[in-house]
Amino acid sequence: MYWTVNGNGHIPDVITVDLRTDTISQPTQDMRDAMVNAVVGDDVYGEDPTVAELERRSAEMLGKEDALFVVSGTMANLIAIMVHCTRRDSEIIAGDNSHTFRFEQGGPSQIAGVQSCLLRNKEDGTFDLNELRDKIRVDSDVHEPVTQLVIVENTHNMCGGKVLPLEWLAEVQKISRENGVKVHMDGARVMNAAVYQKVPVSEIAKYVDTICFCLSKGLGAPVGSILAGSKNFIAKANRVRKVLGGGWRQAGFLAAAGLVAIDKMISRLEEDHKHAAKIARAINATGSKICRVNAATVQTNILMVMVDRSKTSAKEIVERLATVQPDDPVRVSVKTSCRDPGFFRIVLYWEITEEYVRAAIDKITMVIKEFDDKFMKRSDRMDVIEC
Ligand SMILES: Cc1ncc(COP(=O)(O)O)c(C=O)c1O
Repeated sequence: MYWTVNGNGHIPDVITVDLRTDTISQPTQDMRDAMVNAVVGDDVYGEDPTVAELERRSAEMLGKEDALFVVSGTMANLIAIMVHCTRRDSEIIAGDNSHTFRFEQGGPSQIAGVQSCLLRNKEDGTFDLNELRDKIRVDSDVHEPVTQLVIVENTHNMCGGKVLPLEWLAEVQKISRENGVKVHMDGARVMNAAVYQKVPVSEIAKYVDTICFCLSKGLGAPVGSILAGSKNFIAKANRVRKVLGGGWRQAGFLAAAGLVAIDKMISRLEEDHKHAAKIARAINATGSKICRVNAATVQTNILMVMVDRSKTSAKEIVERLATVQPDDPVRVSVKTSCRDPGFFRIVLYWEITEEYVRAAIDKITMVIKEFDDKFMKRSDRMDVIEC
């Protein structure tokens, strides 16, 4: 999924800090115990009590009538699109930097058969509301498709874990309702948003018709996402999940870990946010002109490090971060991810404790100084910024 670099984890004196993504987080011991002891049944027959409990608790938490446990965030978004887009001439509206558009293999067109209309994502993960109004197409012209769904992403992955403002969501809901269009939230990391905004997640979910969140990212569960909405929507979603091959039998083993995720892992997400901010401050404190983070906008567990492309590429920095050379004073391999020459991404999760954050900062600052020394004349360097 990302350009990744094999670290040096096999070298005994090297610490590897893997900050590529939160999907690599491993289940906690509590999750492992819960999985071993789970009471299960055949979920396709609706007979798995642990899945039923996870769905009931998730729906309650989100303030929705019902919920469905599905394999992944990608499947949750695709099911939502397939249920909401009831006509063959459907169009969806989404941000041009949205996960649904960029990284789900074109599922909306490939499988759901719907056309995507893209609005330019702003840096904060939103898009322009006037543009939204202008782009909605109602059933009034035989030449045009009909807008059936607007998708918003919260937190916004490619915008660096940004949290969508509640007032903006309220406007999206209003405009969509006025035009008979539904709103789905790709809330893969919406729990991070709720923690950042210090609101119950239902306060966010109330602005959308349907929402999904991932148990398997910052919440640490091994597999699975939740899709929630009205009872009628979930009944249809259950049918679509089955045709996509997502009917899983004794899924209660996985749901048991999901229950631990919602009970014990949401309240600790704040720690990941603090770690992300700490790394951002440390990067800016180097005074580097090559690598910068807009520290004021680091809100949750993701940060994007911007790289001056006229000097080097993010890929080169990413490779150097992951490598430990024989005479390196800092014996740490930091894995990060990079999709664009202009930036690389760092993501925090529960296993990245304070000690690992310190080790990562040592390595990241060492590498940044190395690149600055290599590419910048002394006089070009910025003064160290106090953050
Ligand atoms: C915002 C967002 N939505 C959806 C997904 C897809 O989730 P999954 O990997 O479970 O399919 C991701 C994955 O990283 C994501 O970041």
